[in-house]
Amino acid sequence: MVYTAVSILLPFAFASVTIAIPESSRFSVIPNTFPDISACAAQPSVFSCENTTVIQNTCCSPTPGGLVLQTQFWSTWTGLEKKGQKLPKGSWTIHGLWPDNCDGSFEQYCDLSRQFDPTPSPAILPDGTVVPPHTGPGVDTFIKNFGREDLLDFMNKYWINQGAPNVDFWGHEFSKHATCTSTFDVACYGPSYRKHQDVVNFFDAVIRAFHQYPTFDMLASFGIIPSNKTSYTLDKFQSAIKTQIGAIPFFGCSHNGTVLSEVWYFSHVFGTEQFGTYKTLDSTTTSSCSTTLPIWYYERTATSEREVRN
Ligand SMILES: *[C@@H]1O[C@H](CO)[C@@H](O)[C@H](O)[C@H]1NC(C)=O
Ligand SMILES: *[C@@H]1O[C@H](CO)[C@@H](O)[C@H](O)[C@H]1NC(C)=O
Ligand SMILES: *[C@@H]1O[C@H](CO)[C@@H](O)[C@H](O)[C@H]1NC(C)=O
Repeated sequence: MVYTAVSILLPFAFASVTIAIPESSRFSVIPNTFPDISACAAQPSVFSCENTTVIQNTCCSPTPGGLVLQTQFWSTWTGLEKKGQKLPKGSWTIHGLWPDNCDGSFEQYCDLSRQFDPTPSPAILPDGTVVPPHTGPGVDTFIKNFGREDLLDFMNKYWINQGAPNVDFWGHEFSKHATCTSTFDVACYGPSYRKHQDVVNFFDAVIRAFHQYPTFDMLASFGIIPSNKTSYTLDKFQSAIKTQIGAIPFFGCSHNGTVLSEVWYFSHVFGTEQFGTYKTLDSTTTSSCSTTLPIWYYERTATSEREVRN
């Protein structure tokens, strides 16, 4: 627990004493984490990747990473079930929120001063830059320091890692992707920037984007439920989602295109990635699921799941 020193003047003793107040109770008012985008009114508002003039203030629209991907996983186990790391019943899990360039290429680990990934992947960037592993406190401590137990709780329910603790995955996603998303640049938070504000703000933005795409419910509404007995076709997954969002996301499959494991929703965003409107577009990446073979959308192992909707 972090303590802060507060001086209190005792009128009767004409002396001051220092008492310790726990960090958590310092925030009877939780600090805001939003950026300062007041300057954005002075420039044209556009959907990212659709600007016809140069975007001068990159805090106002994600650039060059204006093709935004909200990515999700479907997996049947975590490997850390015994430690309570389980999958949320009735929901896919969060992978992240990625900035692709408008042409589909992408950047990664753009700011090594904000490197919180304990196991960088890739460990060496295409230009030869080494990404040093993060050895300090996990990003969960940043969230706690901002008094955001609510956010941490949600992340532990829906943003689940496989084979390693959730916190490692969150640090990976921030450092690999958010540091390449211009609307989370430290400079966008203005002179009152508080360390790790951008990290907490990014996690909130990921969750907001995730809420736009309730994959499990959208599929289940079309009778597509996880099953170890009945398989589906790629076309069926695609048409079910298309009726709800007007676009075809990327479906990813393992096992030679026969086991559904991922979905990526592509969009252009009007305004910032934090608050702007997402316009979902067809995937620019061809599905890795077979167009001819049956596709399995497996039921999860019972002991790998838990109810979190209460
Ligand atoms: C859109 O803005 C980016 C960033 O300023 C710029 O590189 C690009 O040329 C702009 N696109 C057009 C068509 O002006
Ligand atoms: C993919 O198919 C090849 C050829 O049939 C097979 O050898 C391989 O084991 C399959 N891989 C998986 C992960 O199922
Ligand atoms: C369904 O099959 C998958 C893949 O083999 C397995 O991981 C899972 O435990 C199975 N689920 C149930 C409920 O049997």
